[in-house]
Amino acid sequence: MKNYKLAVVGATGVVGQKMIDVLLEKNLPISEYCFFASSRSAGKTIRFGDDVYLVKELTESSFDEDFDFALFSAGGETSLKYSPIAVKHGCIVIDNSSAFRMDETVPLVVPEVNPDEIFNHNGIIANPNCSTIQAVCALKPLDDTFGIKRIVYSTYQAVSGAGSKGIHDLENGIKKFNDESFEYSLEKFEYPIFNNCLPHIDVFLDNGYSKEEEKMINETRKILGKSNLAITATTVRVPVFNSHCESINVEFENGFELNDVMTVLNSAPGVIVVDDIKNNAYAIPTEVTGHNEVFVSRIRRDFSVANGINLWVVADNIRKGAATNAVQILEKLMNT
Ligand code: A2P
Repeated sequence: MKNYKLAVVGATGVVGQKMIDVLLEKNLPISEYCFFASSRSAGKTIRFGDDVYLVKELTESSFDEDFDFALFSAGGETSLKYSPIAVKHGCIVIDNSSAFRMDETVPLVVPEVNPDEIFNHNGIIANPNCSTIQAVCALKPLDDTFGIKRIVYSTYQAVSGAGSKGIHDLENGIKKFNDESFEYSLEKFEYPIFNNCLPHIDVFLDNGYSKEEEKMINETRKILGKSNLAITATTVRVPVFNSHCESINVEFENGFELNDVMTVLNSAPGVIVVDDIKNNAYAIPTEVTGHNEVFVSRIRRDFSVANGINLWVVADNIRKGAATNAVQILEKLMNT
């Protein structure tokens, strides 16, 4: 079996660090690793199992070395600048940023949902937005069985999705709550996130939506292969460190039995149903964090429309919503 050479770009970040954990867990046939970040981190060390690596500054000559694959999670601008350079050197890029997701020539892949798309690439494969990944894992098998007519997303998103600066804002807000004299400046959010809910993720657009909301709508359509599907979304940042929650209202084309919805979700790949309200069993962030699966709870009929259901969908946004999904794509590429 071939032993591959892998670059991780953004290796010091929240997602990059989790990619390292997932790579260690999966033990893929990789013989050489290189960890890149900005000049700020050059020379820092990264522990990878029993080995210690020096972090290298990402530069235009970083890909002069022949990498087989690169995992990028260092923001859109870094991806836009450096992925084409990597591809020119024969490296296949799995990109966690939003830079290429809606590019028609770039597959947008969730391995449980549209695995065959992986192989239609021209050097770049995009990892979808964290909120989209967990939603489509639950929705794809339902769409295949019942035909989805309309989706209403409402999200409750953890601060880890905003990277280390988002985590600092919540940590500092907690310190301030415990010690009034503690002074800090917000690094990421417009308002303190502690004790708050902010209906503002990514920038606002002219049409009144946030970019995060637009991403969920457009990426869901692309992944489900339904370019005109009726979808709306409200995305909200909440003071939770990790794991995103989503309330998803779905209208089907056809009538259905709730038991059949349960059966479909119970056999959906990568999905775990936790739904026993008599025993207060439902998915919550503190229980879901650390898992690679998508958890679905509160499955119930929407009595206000003819063929509707409501779902509560929770996943570790740094694992399944980012690092795990990217490494799953890598694994599929290596297994061919
Ligand atoms: P660094 O730690 O050197 O700033 P997070 O959003 O969780 O903070 O992670 C962002 C990741 O992207 C970090 O690893 C960060 O490196 C990396 N990064 C940011 N800007 C660049 C850049 N211009 N070139 C390479 N890596 C970058």
